[in-house]
Amino acid sequence: MQIFKEKLLDFCSKDETALDIGCADGKFTLSVAPFFKNVYGIDTSKVNLDIAKSHSSDEGSKNVEYSLQDAEHTSFEDSFFDVAYCRRGPTFYKEYYRILKTGGYYLEIGIGEMDTVELKMIFGRGQGYGKWDKSRLDENLKELQDLGFKVIFAENFHYFEYYPSYTKIDLFLQGVPIFEDFNSEKDRELLGKYVEKFQTPKGIRLPRHRVVMVSKKLK
Ligand SMILES: C[S@@+](CC[C@H](N)C(=O)[O-])C[C@H]1O[C@@H](n2cnc3c(N)ncnc32)[C@H](O)[C@@H]1O
Repeated sequence: MQIFKEKLLDFCSKDETALDIGCADGKFTLSVAPFFKNVYGIDTSKVNLDIAKSHSSDEGSKNVEYSLQDAEHTSFEDSFFDVAYCRRGPTFYKEYYRILKTGGYYLEIGIGEMDTVELKMIFGRGQGYGKWDKSRLDENLKELQDLGFKVIFAENFHYFEYYPSYTKIDLFLQGVPIFEDFNSEKDRELLGKYVEKFQTPKGIRLPRHRVVMVSKKLK
């Protein structure tokens, strides 16, 4: 979603240091690195970080440093970062508050409670299953405000994705954690049901839900 990157670029500066929380393969990290003085990427997946590090000789990666760290308790000093951001990664706000400078910004794009809801209903399981009436945005905002962040932007985004075939949606589900235990063989019947019900002239429809937040550390 372009909106998140636009928001992030609104708060970046060539003399600022940023943290990418759950940076994975570093693709996004590299795409914003030219707009900051330094970017640190952390992740708990060594496999992902090895991929990220394999691009470290690429142009535009000179100011990027990756480390294997749990976002809940990082090794960074208090008030080290001007900006911390998280794209669908872990949300340990207390730690993010600690490592941000006063006046620093925390930005997040997360997965909303209604994400792929009709698919999860057919499967009877999945990430956040059944918590449809608990607003992820409201919960996160409360936690951020309780810690001393001032929320300056917060919005839900609902949209549809369309998959051209059963094979494509099956492939997609193999690579994402919507169902941690997704199994192409065992889940064939359930996915078949979904495909039959949500086939449209544009393709197989999947409802997506993202929440975008920007907050500022007040003191
Ligand atoms: C859905 S991926 C998002 C990747 C990347 N931010 C992006 O937008 O492409 C979530 C990432 O967060 C990482 N992660 C999960 N828990 C973590 C934790 N406690 N500390 C650091 N990284 C974590 C995962 O290993 C994974 O790479």
